[in-house]
Amino acid sequence: PAHVLTVEDWSVSEIHSILDAAETLSHAPKQFSGRGLFAANLFFEPSTRTKISFEAAEKTLGLDVLPFEADTSSVKKGETLYDTVKTLESIGADVVVIRHSKERYFDELRDKINIPIINGGDGCGHHPTQSFLDLLTIKQEFGQFNGLNIVIAGDIFHSRVARSNLDVLERLGANVYVSGPKEWMSKELMSRYVTMDQAMEMADIMMLLRIQHERHAVKMVAGPGEYHKLYGLTAQREKKMKKHSIIMHPAPINRNVEIADELVECKRSRIFKQMKNGVFVRMAVLKHVLDQHKGGFFQ
Ligand code: CP
Repeated sequence: PAHVLTVEDWSVSEIHSILDAAETLSHAPKQFSGRGLFAANLFFEPSTRTKISFEAAEKTLGLDVLPFEADTSSVKKGETLYDTVKTLESIGADVVVIRHSKERYFDELRDKINIPIINGGDGCGHHPTQSFLDLLTIKQEFGQFNGLNIVIAGDIFHSRVARSNLDVLERLGANVYVSGPKEWMSKELMSRYVTMDQAMEMADIMMLLRIQHERHAVKMVAGPGEYHKLYGLTAQREKKMKKHSIIMHPAPINRNVEIADELVECKRSRIFKQMKNGVFVRMAVLKHVLDQHKGGFFQ
C-alpha cells in the first residue's frame, strides 16, 4: 500500500499535486461518500490538531472512524505496536493514522501491514501532513516557493516539523535560514544561522517553533522571559518585519515565550489558517492513499 511516512519520500511534483488537491477540496462542497470504509487514528502521544483534524477529514470524506484510545487499549497490557496495527487491519480498518514517540516506528510496519499508514508524527522524526499544511499556507499566500526567504526559529533540534520543512522548502526553491539558541543548532545548521534581529529584515516567512519542554533532557538554555527577549518574536521585533511578511507556528504555542501573546492573532499571523488547512491536506492525503489502495474508490 501507499504509506505516507516522510516528506522526503515525496517528489516535488507529487507534493504540488497533493497541494493542488487540498486547494480544490478546500472549495468543494462536502459531498464524498466513503461509507463502508473504516479509518483508525492511533495516537500514542498527545495531540489536539493532528488527531481532531484527521477525524474531521475522515468524516468529511464519509469514512467511518473506529475509536481507539491508547490508554484504554491492550497496549496497556503490553501489546506491541505491530500487533496493535495488525489487529486493526484484521478487524477491517482501511487506513490507519499513527502518532508514536519512537522515531521511525513505521520501519517495522511498512512492509508487513497491508493497509495504508499515515504518519501523524514519530518522536523527533517526521510529521509529513504538518509540512503539507505549512506548504499549502505558503502557496496560498505567495503563489509559489522560489526565492522566498524563510526563517525557522526555535527548538529545531527537537522538531520533526523543522526537519521535514527544511528539506522540502529547499527542494521547492526557497532559501531556508534558522534562528534561536545556538546550543540547539547542529554544526550543519549553523551555516544557515541568523539572529532574530537579522531575521526581521529579510524573512518573508517567520516560522516559529514550540519549545518542546517534554523532550528536553537538560534544562532550558534560558528562563521563559529571557528566552522571549533573546530568541522570541517580541512585539518590538514584529514592527521591523517586512510589509508583506507572515508569521507561522505549528502550535501548540507557548505564549510570551517563542511569540508575544498579542501577535498570535495579529494581521501577519497565519497560525489559525494553518490549522484550517490541516483538514484539507489531510483530506487530500487520505483520498490519495485510499484511491490507490482501493482502486479509485473516491473517483
Ligand atoms: N501541530 C501539531 O501537530 O499539533 P498537535 O500536537 O496538537 O497535533
